[in-house]
Amino acid sequence: MHSWFYKFAVKGLFPLLLVFASTSIAAAGDERSQASLYERLGGYNAITAVVDEVVVQIAADEKLGRFWAHRGKDGIAREKQLIVDFIVAKAGGSLYYRGREMKLSHEGMQIDEQDWEILIDALKNTLHKFNVPARESREVLEFFDTTKKDIVEKS
Ligand code: HEM
Repeated sequence: MHSWFYKFAVKGLFPLLLVFASTSIAAAGDERSQASLYERLGGYNAITAVVDEVVVQIAADEKLGRFWAHRGKDGIAREKQLIVDFIVAKAGGSLYYRGREMKLSHEGMQIDEQDWEILIDALKNTLHKFNVPARESREVLEFFDTTKKDIVEKS
Protein backbone atom coordinates (compact mmCIF):
# COMPACT_ATOMS: atom_id res chain seq x y z
CA MET A 1 0.00 0.00 0.00
CA HIS A 2 1.50 3.34 -1.01
CA SER A 3 0.73 6.53 0.77
CA TRP A 4 -1.35 9.17 -1.07
CA PHE A 5 1.81 11.23 -1.28
CA TYR A 6 3.73 8.48 -3.08
CA LYS A 7 0.85 8.02 -5.52
CA PHE A 8 0.68 11.75 -6.15
CA ALA A 9 4.43 12.01 -6.64
CA VAL A 10 4.76 9.05 -9.02
CA LYS A 11 1.49 9.18 -10.91
CA GLY A 12 0.78 12.88 -10.89
CA LEU A 13 3.76 15.09 -10.25
CA PHE A 14 6.51 13.18 -12.00
CA PRO A 15 4.75 12.83 -15.37
CA LEU A 16 3.71 16.47 -15.11
CA LEU A 17 7.34 17.49 -14.53
CA LEU A 18 8.42 15.43 -17.52
CA VAL A 19 5.85 17.16 -19.75
CA PHE A 20 6.97 20.53 -18.41
CA ALA A 21 10.66 19.77 -18.94
CA SER A 22 10.13 18.56 -22.50
CA THR A 23 8.05 21.61 -23.46
CA SER A 24 10.73 23.90 -21.97
CA ILE A 25 13.43 22.19 -24.02
CA ALA A 26 11.28 22.49 -27.15
CA ALA A 27 10.65 26.17 -26.36
CA ALA A 28 14.41 26.79 -25.95
CA GLY A 29 14.99 25.14 -29.35
CA ASP A 30 12.24 27.27 -30.89
CA GLU A 31 13.66 30.44 -29.41
CA ARG A 32 17.04 29.64 -30.93
CA SER A 33 15.57 29.00 -34.36
CA GLN A 34 13.46 32.18 -34.17
CA ALA A 35 16.32 34.40 -32.96
CA SER A 36 17.36 37.06 -35.48
CA LEU A 37 20.27 36.40 -37.80
CA TYR A 38 22.08 39.18 -35.92
CA GLU A 39 21.80 37.24 -32.65
CA ARG A 40 22.62 33.88 -34.22
CA LEU A 41 25.77 35.30 -35.83
CA GLY A 42 26.99 36.37 -32.39
CA GLY A 43 26.07 40.08 -32.49
CA TYR A 44 27.95 43.24 -33.34
CA ASN A 45 31.53 42.15 -32.60
CA ALA A 46 31.21 38.91 -34.55
CA ILE A 47 29.84 40.77 -37.60
CA THR A 48 32.61 43.39 -37.32
CA ALA A 49 35.25 40.64 -37.22
CA VAL A 50 33.88 39.07 -40.41
CA VAL A 51 33.69 42.43 -42.25
CA ASP A 52 37.24 43.37 -41.15
CA GLU A 53 38.61 40.12 -42.51
CA VAL A 54 36.70 40.30 -45.80
CA VAL A 55 37.86 43.88 -46.40
CA VAL A 56 41.51 42.90 -45.74
CA GLN A 57 41.19 40.02 -48.24
CA ILE A 58 39.49 41.97 -51.04
CA ALA A 59 41.68 45.06 -50.67
CA ALA A 60 44.73 42.78 -51.08
CA ASP A 61 43.27 41.07 -54.16
CA GLU A 62 45.04 41.76 -57.45
CA LYS A 63 41.84 42.58 -59.39
CA LEU A 64 39.50 43.89 -56.68
CA GLY A 65 42.21 45.91 -54.93
CA ARG A 66 41.77 48.69 -57.53
CA PHE A 67 38.70 49.94 -55.63
CA TRP A 68 40.70 50.63 -52.49
CA ALA A 69 43.99 51.74 -54.03
CA HIS A 70 44.95 55.34 -53.26
CA ARG A 71 42.15 55.77 -50.75
CA GLY A 72 42.85 57.35 -47.39
CA LYS A 73 42.88 55.25 -44.22
CA ASP A 74 39.99 57.17 -42.73
CA GLY A 75 37.89 56.81 -45.88
CA ILE A 76 38.34 53.03 -45.74
CA ALA A 77 37.59 52.93 -41.99
CA ARG A 78 34.42 54.95 -42.58
CA GLU A 79 33.29 52.68 -45.41
CA LYS A 80 33.99 49.57 -43.32
CA GLN A 81 31.89 51.01 -40.48
CA LEU A 82 29.03 51.69 -42.87
CA ILE A 83 29.21 48.10 -44.16
CA VAL A 84 29.07 46.77 -40.56
CA ASP A 85 26.10 49.06 -39.82
CA PHE A 86 24.32 48.01 -43.00
CA ILE A 87 24.67 44.27 -42.26
CA VAL A 88 23.80 44.68 -38.55
CA ALA A 89 20.64 46.64 -39.44
CA LYS A 90 19.58 44.18 -42.15
CA ALA A 91 20.25 41.15 -39.92
CA GLY A 92 17.93 42.43 -37.18
CA GLY A 93 20.33 44.30 -34.89
CA SER A 94 19.06 47.47 -33.22
CA LEU A 95 20.96 49.93 -35.35
CA TYR A 96 19.81 52.52 -37.87
CA TYR A 97 21.82 52.43 -41.12
CA ARG A 98 22.70 56.00 -42.02
CA GLY A 99 24.64 55.29 -45.20
CA ARG A 100 23.52 55.48 -48.78
CA GLU A 101 21.60 52.71 -50.50
CA MET A 102 23.52 50.12 -52.52
CA LYS A 103 22.58 51.35 -56.00
CA LEU A 104 23.45 54.95 -55.24
CA SER A 105 26.77 54.18 -53.51
CA HIS A 106 28.10 51.76 -56.18
CA GLU A 107 26.70 53.26 -59.39
CA GLY A 108 29.39 54.03 -61.97
CA MET A 109 32.11 51.87 -60.38
CA GLN A 110 31.78 49.31 -63.20
CA ILE A 111 31.78 46.40 -60.78
CA ASP A 112 31.64 43.20 -62.84
CA GLU A 113 30.73 39.53 -62.29
CA GLN A 114 34.35 38.55 -61.65
CA ASP A 115 34.69 41.25 -58.96
CA TRP A 116 31.53 39.89 -57.38
CA GLU A 117 32.84 36.31 -57.41
CA ILE A 118 36.10 37.38 -55.73
CA LEU A 119 34.10 39.11 -53.00
CA ILE A 120 31.82 36.10 -52.47
CA ASP A 121 34.84 33.74 -52.31
CA ALA A 122 36.45 35.97 -49.67
CA LEU A 123 33.16 35.99 -47.73
CA LYS A 124 32.81 32.19 -47.94
CA ASN A 125 36.44 31.70 -46.76
CA THR A 126 35.87 34.07 -43.87
CA LEU A 127 32.59 32.47 -42.74
CA HIS A 128 34.41 29.13 -42.79
CA LYS A 129 37.45 30.53 -40.95
CA PHE A 130 35.19 31.91 -38.17
CA ASN A 131 33.24 28.62 -37.93
CA VAL A 132 29.92 30.25 -38.78
CA PRO A 133 27.37 27.38 -38.90
CA ALA A 134 25.88 26.24 -42.23
CA ARG A 135 22.41 27.78 -41.71
CA GLU A 136 23.76 31.24 -40.79
CA SER A 137 26.39 31.14 -43.57
CA ARG A 138 23.64 30.33 -46.07
CA GLU A 139 21.50 33.23 -44.81
CA VAL A 140 24.44 35.68 -45.02
CA LEU A 141 25.18 34.56 -48.59
CA GLU A 142 21.49 34.81 -49.51
CA PHE A 143 21.40 38.33 -48.10
CA PHE A 144 24.48 39.38 -50.11
CA ASP A 145 22.81 37.94 -53.19
CA THR A 146 19.83 40.29 -52.72
CA THR A 147 22.20 43.28 -53.04
CA LYS A 148 23.92 42.03 -56.22
CA LYS A 149 21.40 43.51 -58.71
CA ASP A 150 22.13 47.00 -57.31
CA ILE A 151 25.93 46.58 -57.25
CA VAL A 152 27.07 44.60 -60.31
CA GLU A 153 26.82 46.67 -63.50
CA LYS A 154 28.87 44.63 -65.97
CA SER A 155 28.96 40.96 -66.97
C1 HEM B 1 32.61 43.52 -55.59
C2 HEM B 1 31.70 44.14 -54.88
C3 HEM B 1 31.87 45.48 -54.20
C4 HEM B 1 32.79 46.47 -54.40
C5 HEM B 1 33.93 46.50 -55.39
C6 HEM B 1 32.47 47.55 -53.48
C7 HEM B 1 33.16 48.73 -53.39
C8 HEM B 1 32.80 49.81 -52.60
C9 HEM B 1 33.48 51.07 -52.54
C10 HEM B 1 34.76 51.42 -53.33
C11 HEM B 1 32.79 51.88 -51.70
C12 HEM B 1 33.13 53.33 -51.32
C13 HEM B 1 32.24 54.29 -52.05
C14 HEM B 1 32.50 55.72 -51.70
O1 HEM B 1 33.41 56.01 -50.90
O2 HEM B 1 31.80 56.58 -52.23
C15 HEM B 1 31.68 51.11 -51.18
C16 HEM B 1 30.76 51.56 -50.27
C17 HEM B 1 29.87 50.76 -49.62
N1 HEM B 1 29.62 49.43 -49.88
FE1 HEM B 1 30.46 48.35 -51.33
N2 HEM B 1 31.39 47.19 -52.74
C18 HEM B 1 31.00 45.92 -53.13
C19 HEM B 1 29.96 45.18 -52.60
C20 HEM B 1 29.24 45.54 -51.49
C21 HEM B 1 28.28 44.70 -50.82
C22 HEM B 1 27.92 43.27 -51.23
C23 HEM B 1 27.78 45.42 -49.77
C24 HEM B 1 26.79 45.02 -48.73
C25 HEM B 1 26.50 43.80 -48.37
C26 HEM B 1 28.42 46.72 -49.80
C27 HEM B 1 28.17 47.72 -48.90
C28 HEM B 1 28.68 48.99 -48.99
C29 HEM B 1 28.30 50.08 -48.10
C30 HEM B 1 27.32 50.01 -46.96
C31 HEM B 1 29.04 51.20 -48.50
C32 HEM B 1 29.01 52.61 -47.90
C33 HEM B 1 27.89 53.44 -48.52
C34 HEM B 1 28.02 54.92 -48.18
O3 HEM B 1 29.14 55.45 -48.31
O4 HEM B 1 27.02 55.53 -47.82
N3 HEM B 1 29.30 46.75 -50.85
N4 HEM B 1 31.72 49.85 -51.78
